[in-house]
Amino acid sequence: MLGFSRRKGRVMCDGRLSHIAFIMDGNGRWAKRRGLPREAGHVEGSRNLERILRACLDRGIVTVTVYAFSTENWRRPEKEVSAIMGLLTSYLKRAREEQDQNKVHVRVLGDISVFEGEVQESIRLLDAETAHYQHTLNIALNYGARQELVTAVNRLLAEGREQVTEQDISEALYTAGQKDPDLIVRTSGECRTSNFLLWQSAYAEYAFVKTPWPAFGEKELDGVLRDFYQRHRRFGGL
Ligand code: FPP
Repeated sequence: MLGFSRRKGRVMCDGRLSHIAFIMDGNGRWAKRRGLPREAGHVEGSRNLERILRACLDRGIVTVTVYAFSTENWRRPEKEVSAIMGLLTSYLKRAREEQDQNKVHVRVLGDISVFEGEVQESIRLLDAETAHYQHTLNIALNYGARQELVTAVNRLLAEGREQVTEQDISEALYTAGQKDPDLIVRTSGECRTSNFLLWQSAYAEYAFVKTPWPAFGEKELDGVLRDFYQRHRRFGGL
């Protein structure tokens, strides 16, 4: 039996799918196919994040995580890096201004120490000011899962630990206190995890879809949600 119910033609999710994560891939190719600069793909990708976030919350999903900028993405041409950073900072600024309408707790996952003091401060304030909301948007920014694990282990060592448990590690990650993702979606046809949520994804389901991120709409979202509910998650059991 499928675990979702339909309302207004949407797939409604229950507790089995409370956390969804997206590797928002294909912005550059989407733009190139239209004869546009790669940066235009990121602009449309950022608009699509707002649409898909709303669509996920409307379907009963509690936590949405997006991979916005990896520790490896600094290797891209400066023009592209600064375009993505511009989109991110204006998104964070708007998220602060519109927090009463959006009603979402916005958290940044990643090493934010590389950003200017003012940006770091606005990330912290946005997190603190929206912490009382029930829904969460995690934005992985200057994020790499290996770096996250190394940081976590070093933090535990600095506390003088000689042995650690799985829970100690989970609680030292950027996602401390959150449920692990149930479903990780990567758009644009690549079938890789690209250093994203390696610890947290131990029992996650994956969906790889061909559609590039800017064109990934509600129809495609319902497609991956429907597919998720047809799977039988055993978590290592029978
Ligand atoms: C991958 O597509 C996408 C990125 C590296 C950046 C994602 C950033 C955004 C969607 C905009 C900013 C985000 C927020 C939170 C406002 P790609 O460029 O690797 O595409 P390609 O594989 O076709 O080259």
